[in-house]
This record gives sequence, C-alpha cells and structure tokens, in this order.
Amino acid sequence: MDCLDALFTRRSIRHFLDRPVERAKVEKALEAAHWAPSGKNNQPWRFVVVQDRETREKLARLTVSGRVIREAPVAVAVFMDREVSYHREKDIQSMGACIENMLLAFHCQGLGAVWLGEILKNREKVETLLEAPPSWEFMALVSAGYPAREGASTRRPLREVVVWFKNKG
Ligand SMILES: Cc1cc2nc3c(=O)[nH]c(=O)nc-3n(C[C@H](O)[C@H](O)[C@H](O)COP(=O)(O)O)c2cc1C
Repeated sequence: MDCLDALFTRRSIRHFLDRPVERAKVEKALEAAHWAPSGKNNQPWRFVVVQDRETREKLARLTVSGRVIREAPVAVAVFMDREVSYHREKDIQSMGACIENMLLAFHCQGLGAVWLGEILKNREKVETLLEAPPSWEFMALVSAGYPAREGASTRRPLREVVVWFKNKG
C-alpha cells in the first residue's frame, strides 16, 4: 500500500472476525512502532502482547470499550519506560508517534486496529494485571484483528485547522 493511501484509509476498527492473527503480522506492527521517532532516540516504548481470552476479559472489564477487547484476538498494551525518560512531554509525544505507526502497520497488513485510551482511568490495575516493571507507565491499549466492519470517521475541512502565515513585515 502506498504510504499516503495507508494514512488516508486507516480508520479505527471496533468489530473483528473470530480469526486468529498471524504472529508475523503482530511482530511487523511492533517493529513499525519501534521505528517511530523519539526525542534523543530514547525509544521509551515497551509492549506487552496479550492474546489469551482470560487476560483480555480482565482488561475488558476495565473500560467502557470492553466489547472491543473481547472481540479482537490481539491486545497490545503500550507502556512508557520512565527509566529512559528525559522530558515527559516529549516522551509522551514519542509514544503517540509509536502508537500511530502501529495502527498504520496493522492497517497495511489487512488488519484493523483501534487505540483505546479510556482504559487509562484504570492505569494502575492494568500495570498490576500485566505485571509491568515499576518504571513502566501504561499509555494505551491497541486492539487488533481482522476487521468485520469498516470504520467510518470523517474530518472537518482542512482550512478550519490550517493557517498559511503571511509575513506582513
Ligand atoms: C488518545 C486516544 C484515545 C482513544 N481512546 C479510545 C477509546 O477509549 N475507545 C475507542 O473506541 N476509541 C478510542 N480512540 C479512537 C478515536 O475515537 C478515533 O481515533 C477517532 O474517533 C477518529 O477516528 P479514526 O481513528 O477512525 O480516524 C482513541 C484515540 C486516541 C488518539
């Protein structure tokens, strides 16, 4: 898939087929996430891949988006390692870049995925459940699988969010 096609056709997918995802595809998405830019190239991301139903069910109970976690065969919990952090704001920006890379990589391989943030209200419970080391801060869960329905988001017109600065000097 062409790079811009991938960017423009990616949508959050929240309905999944009951079909396992090949490990190589998950690994490719993780590799893509790992190749995101980060401040000072500190690569603060850490990933925990959850596939078993029992653990997904426990995660599902921690968010209003639980149905998605139950349905999607893969859940990737994304953490930021405070041990390698150098500037909280920039490190969190790097985490966003990493998560977007992951979403795009799933999409490019014919999979669907969604970034789940509502579950952050239970950050500590997720960290305990997934036995995260003390320096790992839970940032988001990405649910992924073969899509059963297309996503359908739109965007407001670009002109509403862009200013082409004119130098009046
Ligand atoms: C920080 C963040 C948190 C999000 N949290 C959730 C969530 O908890 N549940 C959910 O269904 N979607 C969640 N989303 C997905 C957004 O709803 C989605 O990206 C947005 O509506 C635009 O749709 P699109 O991804 O299809 O373009 C989140 C996205 C981001 C970037």
